[in-house]
Amino acid sequence: MSYQKIENLKEQAFSKIKAAQNSADLYQVKVEFTGKNGRLTEIMKDMAGLSKEERPLFGKKVNEVKSEFEDAYLAREKTLKTQEINQKIQAEALDLSLPGSLSAPGTIHPIQRVTEEICQIMSRLGYSLRTGPMIEKDYYNFEALNIPADHPARDMQDTFFVDPTHVLRTHTSPIQIHSLDREKPPLRILGTGPVFRCDSDISHLPNFHQIEGMCVDRQVSMADLKGSISFFVREFFGPGLKTRFRPSFFPFTEPSAEVDCSCPICLGKGCALCKQSGWIEIGGSGLINPKVLLGSRVSYPEWQGFAFGFGIERMAIIKYGIDDIRHFPENDVRFLRQFKI
Ligand code: PHE
Repeated sequence: MSYQKIENLKEQAFSKIKAAQNSADLYQVKVEFTGKNGRLTEIMKDMAGLSKEERPLFGKKVNEVKSEFEDAYLAREKTLKTQEINQKIQAEALDLSLPGSLSAPGTIHPIQRVTEEICQIMSRLGYSLRTGPMIEKDYYNFEALNIPADHPARDMQDTFFVDPTHVLRTHTSPIQIHSLDREKPPLRILGTGPVFRCDSDISHLPNFHQIEGMCVDRQVSMADLKGSISFFVREFFGPGLKTRFRPSFFPFTEPSAEVDCSCPICLGKGCALCKQSGWIEIGGSGLINPKVLLGSRVSYPEWQGFAFGFGIERMAIIKYGIDDIRHFPENDVRFLRQFKI
């Protein structure tokens, strides 16, 4: 009778193990049969009603069934756990066919690009880059560049005054003076950065950028200046472009010349950009006025020099055919994206 009971229990337990669909259900089967109050545990109580001879046989049988139960349980557990892990992996798997969430890469601002390109070209002639403060002492922006107080030349550049002795620099030429102050000739330097003038229309910004070059050496002539700038224009705008120098005036250069290059858009034939003249003005230049050199304690004529200054927005407008200077500070990505490398 009791043996039959054990067999029945075993059958029930095995079929429940088989039927369990997940490890939590399976664990409930374990609790039901071999737990503290489990049915296989409880059956031991039947021993009390058995004879002395039957008891050990009965005990042995129960233990056998328990151990078979344990084996079947572990095997099923292994199967279910593997199944569950596989299901989990599948549920959490990445769908590589979905489009990724891209963060839009930035582009180098055209002003920065043009600056870097100019530096690269001029570095081949031995120039290296300097910067200076945007708030300048009156001395560096004007005095040391031979523009004394009340000199009419100050009217050429409408100045933002910070206080009576400090200005927002109106050009990058003060960087020349910082270099002459600190460094010993021979010198070939570029100075670049933002400059400020009280001016604003379709071709002028109150805050624009310049790049300045200065060469100080033992014998420097207009021929050196013209050769260096012509080289630069051909490298920057294109090999066929001509350079033209027109007499001009700057207090810090003598003689001075305005630099024009043949229009890179129409190649000199005449178009809207060059106002039908075939030429485009790109900046100012000249031999450094001896007063500037001597004022910075550079001995002249032992050392002589030339300098030039270009507007970077202007260079970019010419190179890329941009119609309005105000595009540069607006930061409209539709404009900026066109300058992707
Ligand atoms: N600093 C001058 C300007 O801003 C340009 C210039 C630079 C002219 C160097 C001559 C030499 O107008």
